[in-house]
Amino acid sequence: MKWGQWGARFTTSQFADSIAACIDNDITSFDHADIYGDYTTEEEFGAALNKQPSIRKKIQLITKCGIKMPVAGRPSNKIKSYDTSSQYIIQCVERSLTNLYTDYIDVFLIHRPDPLMNPEEIAEAFARLKQQGKVLHFGVSNFNPSQTELINKYYPVEINQIEISLLHLDPFHNGQLDQCIHDNILPMAWSPFGGGSLLTDFSSEKNMRIQAAVNLLSLKYKSSFENILLAFLRKHPSGIIPVLGTSKAERLISAIQSKELQLETEEWFMLWEASTGKQIP
Ligand SMILES: NC(=O)c1ccc[n+]([C@@H]2O[C@H](COP(=O)([O-])OP(=O)(O)OC[C@H]3O[C@@H](n4cnc5c(N)ncnc54)[C@H](OP(=O)(O)O)[C@@H]3O)[C@@H](O)[C@H]2O)c1
Repeated sequence: MKWGQWGARFTTSQFADSIAACIDNDITSFDHADIYGDYTTEEEFGAALNKQPSIRKKIQLITKCGIKMPVAGRPSNKIKSYDTSSQYIIQCVERSLTNLYTDYIDVFLIHRPDPLMNPEEIAEAFARLKQQGKVLHFGVSNFNPSQTELINKYYPVEINQIEISLLHLDPFHNGQLDQCIHDNILPMAWSPFGGGSLLTDFSSEKNMRIQAAVNLLSLKYKSSFENILLAFLRKHPSGIIPVLGTSKAERLISAIQSKELQLETEEWFMLWEASTGKQIP
């Protein structure tokens, strides 16, 4: 999301270099959506893949559809809206395949719950795309438990990509993570650093409380600040996979060390308390 026009505005060779640096360090899953960069980032990433087609089999591509944005490249979108019709999903997958220079997508997600979604239509599109070998795995993003259950009744949901961080604890108690365990759904956490706010914004009381608590643990574990934030997510039994937004390959590579970090239970609750500003009940 932040490698293209919505962030670092990488050139094709910067895309290629960053992808190569990731692969060299066993970071192999790349998160896309059709809308990123106002519908430009998939194609820019795909241009880098096209220069070196042999890397396709070493990586996994995640992408999403469902949000229609009124931007210059999409004059037919008059206002922002959602579309999760079977026809639209199939059209989006075809476009993503072309943009990404690939003949299959590893993981395809419905980007946001659509108030008009028809689960049978979504399931029909998923089944057809799976049968054609165009998509290997399906899931949702930003879905609450009842919305996920609705889709899951018609087609197995394998992933729910949701916002989780010390600035956004809702999934720990709104049923989203319980459901992931219950239904064997992999949770992916977007904005694990609060979109960067936890690393760069020292103005709000909440951020300052969290930063002070994270700093204590960072000293204890001789670990980076970022890796304490990731260790907080990783301790949850649902197996949360963080989706990092940095455009700096060295930051991605250093985040791998968070896998080795095991916070004590009381330390996890200390971070929770720093976030909420109060003791748990
Ligand atoms: N499914 C959805 O609805 C949804 C919504 C939002 C995002 N996403 C996905 O989740 C990904 C992550 O979201 P995000 O970008 O908001 O998350 P994030 O990882 O919490 O924040 C990344 C931002 O923090 C900045 N940053 C500053 N210092 C950093 C440091 N030391 N280490 C790492 N980052 C630092 C990065 O800038 P630098 O580039 O300068 O490092 C970048 O702008 C997106 O790229 C996208 O793929 C999905």
